[in-house]
Amino acid sequence: MVNDRAYAWQVLKQHVTSDVLLRHCLAVEVAMRAYGAKFGQDQEYWGAVGLLHDVDFDKFPNDHPNHARDLLSQAGYSSQFITDVESHARNWETERTLLQKTLLALDELTGFIIACALVRPDRSLANLEVKSVVKKMKDKAFARAVNRDTLTEGAASMGVDMKDHIEFVTRALAEAVNKPEYQEVPLL
Ligand SMILES: [Fe+2]
Repeated sequence: MVNDRAYAWQVLKQHVTSDVLLRHCLAVEVAMRAYGAKFGQDQEYWGAVGLLHDVDFDKFPNDHPNHARDLLSQAGYSSQFITDVESHARNWETERTLLQKTLLALDELTGFIIACALVRPDRSLANLEVKSVVKKMKDKAFARAVNRDTLTEGAASMGVDMKDHIEFVTRALAEAVNKPEYQEVPLL
């Protein structure tokens, strides 16, 4: 089931119609998949958690992710998979696993990096440099909805250096832009 990426995408589209949210889910998927591989984990599983992590957000924005269990169990996902999705609740009380820490860390960072790419003259991830992302993190007027502490705490919880983290995620996103899975709803 978690290895069936096409199925996960259909499940997501069944519950999410906003292109903005679909794009966010795809970006988190890309980065989760990349980190899954980097950490020697099951990248299909990590990618599927990333893709489906906001499955209930369109329908239940004020009670998210509390409806993920209903939606994903109906779709046949395992209880552990659903727990991994639910774990990005900001008030999650259990110690997060590496996968869960990574999901939380990527939830804000992917969109921030894409926002940095979109203000470049070429509107591209390919030439986006880490130092430019770091500079934008210090610019409070830029993408002000993104809490900078969340970005740095995310990297710290994963035990990765912030600059390496930005570099890794930027490259993963840049490499995914032209893949077939990311044409229906482009990453940026
Ligand atoms: Fe999210």
